[in-house]
Amino acid sequence: MVEEFITLRNGAKMPRVGLGTWKAPAEMTKAAIKCAVKSGYRLIDTANDYANEHVIGEALAELFAEGVVKREELFIQCKLWNTNHRKEHVKQDLLDTLADLKIEYVDSFVIHWPQASEKTMFPVDNNGYFCSDKESHYVETWEVMEELVDEGLTKSIGLSNFNRRQIEEILSVTKKHFPCVLQNESHPYLHELDLRNFCAINKIAFQAYSALGSADRPWRKFGSITSGAPKIGHEILEHPDILKIAEKYGKSAANVVIRWHLQKGGTLVAKSTNPGRIEANYKVWDFELTADEMSFFDKLNVGWRHLIWAETSDHPDYPFKDELPHNYVLGKPDKKLFERS
Ligand SMILES: NC(=O)c1ccc[n+]([C@@H]2O[C@H](COP(=O)([O-])OP(=O)(O)OC[C@H]3O[C@@H](n4cnc5c(N)ncnc54)[C@H](OP(=O)(O)O)[C@@H]3O)[C@@H](O)[C@H]2O)c1
Repeated sequence: MVEEFITLRNGAKMPRVGLGTWKAPAEMTKAAIKCAVKSGYRLIDTANDYANEHVIGEALAELFAEGVVKREELFIQCKLWNTNHRKEHVKQDLLDTLADLKIEYVDSFVIHWPQASEKTMFPVDNNGYFCSDKESHYVETWEVMEELVDEGLTKSIGLSNFNRRQIEEILSVTKKHFPCVLQNESHPYLHELDLRNFCAINKIAFQAYSALGSADRPWRKFGSITSGAPKIGHEILEHPDILKIAEKYGKSAANVVIRWHLQKGGTLVAKSTNPGRIEANYKVWDFELTADEMSFFDKLNVGWRHLIWAETSDHPDYPFKDELPHNYVLGKPDKKLFERS
């Protein structure tokens, strides 16, 4: 029996399946949010760099006004962007999101990435190098994150894209409010077993992002070094063996992958702006993968990470140094990716 919610270390209930909103065009996002909530989703994952929080706010206002759901029945998660890591900027980052979302508090506020940056959303100098803010460190950012819980602006705080050592550092400096959620990339090609176990021991809920393999990752079409399907040869939702399992249950490949996440004990956010897929993706509670089907997924765990963000890799707090592609020169901009702008 797979539960729909888990209990976080702060006592709050967090839905195990959430709707993601990265790459969701603003003009489609309002309908997507309304459709998701009406289909049973209770977790919405947002971020200020997704440029759609204002329409999510409109959708939420309508859902509350129509009596579809009450604020306290939803779990809304947003993220602190890299330009706002300095102590004096952290609170304003959240206040801006709350204004866009038209709500008084969020349920989870996570540091989006460990590496702080300067000035604009995606600051890149004339040579394509990321403009790091090396004077700012996430340990100081965390101090203010903790204060925001006491101020009632967020029910919990957490991390995203942090590696194990960086999480340990946060745990060692936490005064009162420990991280409740770690949102990191994970899917059948990247199981992250060590990190999941580390989180479980430390009472942090591991929340997989790009849970379906992120086939619409923008750099795929620009042919950047991190663009390709993994060596295994298929985008996750097109894997013939996953499709076969899906057929057996009369489900989609996405349902099977979501079910795999759930039966592994995890939580996840998956994105769609297609109303039919949003609704269908949530129908994962009425079937169960066999032990053999679960162990089939073990063979897919090739450690493929699609969100490398190599341009930021010369930052001292870059989290995935060991996973940069072979031949990649540290700090060298990914030319093909840079050429797109
Ligand atoms: N913290 C971070 O740094 C970070 C990074 C990446 C993602 N995230 C969060 O995680 C969420 C999910 O990750 P993601 O957006 O990268 O990718 P994802 O959820 O793994 O995959 C999204 C892709 O799958 C497609 N899709 C969804 N359901 C489908 C179905 N039933 N059949 C076929 N295709 C389907 C979507 O297309 P349609 O929309 O057309 O259905 C879209 O192309 C994000 O939206 C964001 O909220 C966080």
